[in-house]
Amino acid sequence: MNVSDTEIVNSILMEEGMEPVNEPEDAEIIFVNTCSIRENAEERVWNRLKEFRALKRDKDGNLTVGVLGCMAERIRDKIIEKEQLVDLVVGPDAYRDLPKLLSDVDDGRKAVNTILSLEETYADIKPIRTNDNGVSAFVTIMRGCDNMCAFCVVPFTRGRERSRPAESILDELQQLSDQGYREVTLLGQNVNSYDDGDHSFADLMYKASQVDPEMRIRFSSPHPKDFPEELLEIISEQPNLCNYIHIPAQSGNNAVLERMRRPYTREQYFDLVEKMRDIIPGLTLSTDIITGFCGETEEEHEDTLTLMAKVKYDLAYMFAYSERGRTLAQRKYEDDVPEDIKKRRLSEIIKQQMEIQEELNKQEIGRRHLVLVEGTSKRSDEQLCGRTDTNKMVVFDRKDFQKGDYVEVTITDCTSATLMGEPVQKSSIQEFSRETVTA
Ligand code: 5AD
Ligand code: SF4
Repeated sequence: MNVSDTEIVNSILMEEGMEPVNEPEDAEIIFVNTCSIRENAEERVWNRLKEFRALKRDKDGNLTVGVLGCMAERIRDKIIEKEQLVDLVVGPDAYRDLPKLLSDVDDGRKAVNTILSLEETYADIKPIRTNDNGVSAFVTIMRGCDNMCAFCVVPFTRGRERSRPAESILDELQQLSDQGYREVTLLGQNVNSYDDGDHSFADLMYKASQVDPEMRIRFSSPHPKDFPEELLEIISEQPNLCNYIHIPAQSGNNAVLERMRRPYTREQYFDLVEKMRDIIPGLTLSTDIITGFCGETEEEHEDTLTLMAKVKYDLAYMFAYSERGRTLAQRKYEDDVPEDIKKRRLSEIIKQQMEIQEELNKQEIGRRHLVLVEGTSKRSDEQLCGRTDTNKMVVFDRKDFQKGDYVEVTITDCTSATLMGEPVQKSSIQEFSRETVTA
């Protein structure tokens, strides 16, 4: 989401005649786009800001430093008054105001706009992607979140949920296709509640699939509470809608889920996973998990381990609970699981997850996948890397293949994170049959 927001900011600034530079030393203005989701995200921002304060001194004050994004709203007063670290503070709904705020700074004023909006979706702004691989892009389809999970600061920092009109999303997909992009991830905090007045998320996904049959469509993130069967059918039927779903569970225990204000049970979650796998053969899944949420007992933690062992996710993002200001958990519950226990539980779930991933990846050996080449492998110039439809990273010999190609690859080896394979031939979504993978 922040990468996508930065691309919107790029567009607004470049419209004003500004140009990106590669090194902070060469910049006249530096913006730090910030995240508040956990304490350690915020700590990293504070450290960066201190580095930039030193840089500003080296440049005899000829540097403007601004904070964008979620942290802006939360700590604007602290940032500007106490720490003297920054000149500009701009929240996620106020980027259109950047040119005016920059001129306030030029006039010697501190500039702040952290007002949240009920409407802003930046629908008409064409993001400028200065830092991607030219193959895969993010497209934001909605902003904000109304779910109010007890642990989460997003509803406070990003405001109310609002959907960007489908027409402007589909236009952007067409432009990306014209520019040669081969994969798009549709982004929102809670995509299943997408509603622009005329389209549900399932409608949008169907229309997105029709823009370019050779462009893969992914999305992040849905909420388990309202996953429509219609959407699963559409994903299963359209070859370019990817067979991979990120479906955050957060915990495997019903009492914890209730304290978290996640309106589903472990049993309902299992039913959903079963339905997904029934409708979409070969589907891979990933999840988000929090360990050590307020009041979590050893038994409740065990339930998370067993949930993860039963579902067998192909990928998991796992976090120790971190209390955030203004959330329901902060106001109502005590953050009472000691840090060392949170960390121990986190390493337990990570360890189990790595074993599961390795086991699942071993089952891939011998299968043939359609891989979209993203670029050169990190390990060797002689090798390319790219993802399967099911979102697994595959590394294979370069031969004559290029970035942006779809290549059929037979999997020959793996680690818990990556598959290795032998390229067979160049192909396309339409030529390749998904049954080849599950056969
Ligand atoms: N502490 C730890 N993890 C959190 N997340 C959200 N809020 C917190 C928090 N306070 C995690 C959730 C969410 C992901 C984006 O970040 O798992 O799905
Ligand atoms: Fe946060 Fe819950 Fe909204 Fe996700 S659905 S952004 S976890 S409040």
